[in-house]
Amino acid sequence: MLNHPQDSDLMEEEHLISCCTNIEVLDKVAYPSSRVGLGKKQSKPMILGIIGCGAIANIITDFALEEKLNADLKYFYDVDLDRANKLAAKVDGRAVLNLEDMLSNVDLVIEAASPDAVIKYVPKVLRAGKDVIIMSIGALIGKSFREKLNKIASLNHCNIYTPSGAIVGLDGIKAASMGKINRVSLLTRKPPQSLGIDASEEVVLYEGEAHDAVFKFPVNMNVAAALSIACKQDVKVKIIADPKVDQNCHEIHVSGEFGELTTTTRNVNCTSNPKTSQLAAYSAAQLINSLNNRINVGT
Ligand SMILES: NC(=O)c1ccc[n+]([C@@H]2O[C@H](COP(=O)([O-])OP(=O)(O)OC[C@H]3O[C@@H](n4cnc5c(N)ncnc54)[C@H](O)[C@@H]3O)[C@@H](O)[C@H]2O)c1
Repeated sequence: MLNHPQDSDLMEEEHLISCCTNIEVLDKVAYPSSRVGLGKKQSKPMILGIIGCGAIANIITDFALEEKLNADLKYFYDVDLDRANKLAAKVDGRAVLNLEDMLSNVDLVIEAASPDAVIKYVPKVLRAGKDVIIMSIGALIGKSFREKLNKIASLNHCNIYTPSGAIVGLDGIKAASMGKINRVSLLTRKPPQSLGIDASEEVVLYEGEAHDAVFKFPVNMNVAAALSIACKQDVKVKIIADPKVDQNCHEIHVSGEFGELTTTTRNVNCTSNPKTSQLAAYSAAQLINSLNNRINVGT
């Protein structure tokens, strides 16, 4: 005898699970997309559009092609229409001539273009009531712009997501920020070409606060911005161009009431854009998938 309405739901669920013979089917049947943003439910796969069809978009599109993305990547926009066309052709998607052509058809937009694109397009995406994933997180370093986007998002009942990108440890750092954080530092060491310079020996390009670093190296300092926002303080940053390394390396040290943590990430660069680490694209793809999960592990 069933005592609770939930019991029948559970039995139905168990029946579905027992009918499934592999995990792929299980994902589609037992765990239909459940959540796009807080409080929003939908039963169809999430439809995605992407702004910027470069290195990150290429990796995400390949994941879609390999059916590793739990969403339909359909719309592609880039100032370079050829790039948008190439990616759209991979997944039977559509390249659009302007952002408005995708907005009414998508559930979520991924910005993978540039800090300028965040300033220009993200407010429009939010005003259309669509969730957004921002990769060019350096654009969010300024508190007033963050507050502006936050206000538009809340007025339009949508969400802004920023994946952990090229670093690890943001989960622990966010948790640590519930208590007092005494010190946060970031040491970024990259091959000179990843920093847009030529150098035959190690050069310290910058030492100071994240806020300034982001303005001096806007395309390379997403990590400093993410870290500063996560720990709610301007992080001490050192940027080194090092011809002896062939990976983009980030060392983070945090100490505070929680104790102390150190993380090191040695990232494989994207072949089409050595400034960008493959892990950044992976983190966006994983975030997309986690929006469909009922159980989410990690802070
Ligand atoms: N969060 C992170 O840790 C992290 C890591 C790597 C890269 N990023 C950022 O993600 C963004 C994308 O990186 P990528 O390596 O794919 O770059 P990319 O240069 O390979 O590709 C960017 C694409 O966006 C297009 N684009 C640029 N500005 C545009 C605009 N205003 N409107 C339309 N299209 C525009 C370009 O034509 C290009 O095709 C960059 O801003 C980069 O700094 C973030």
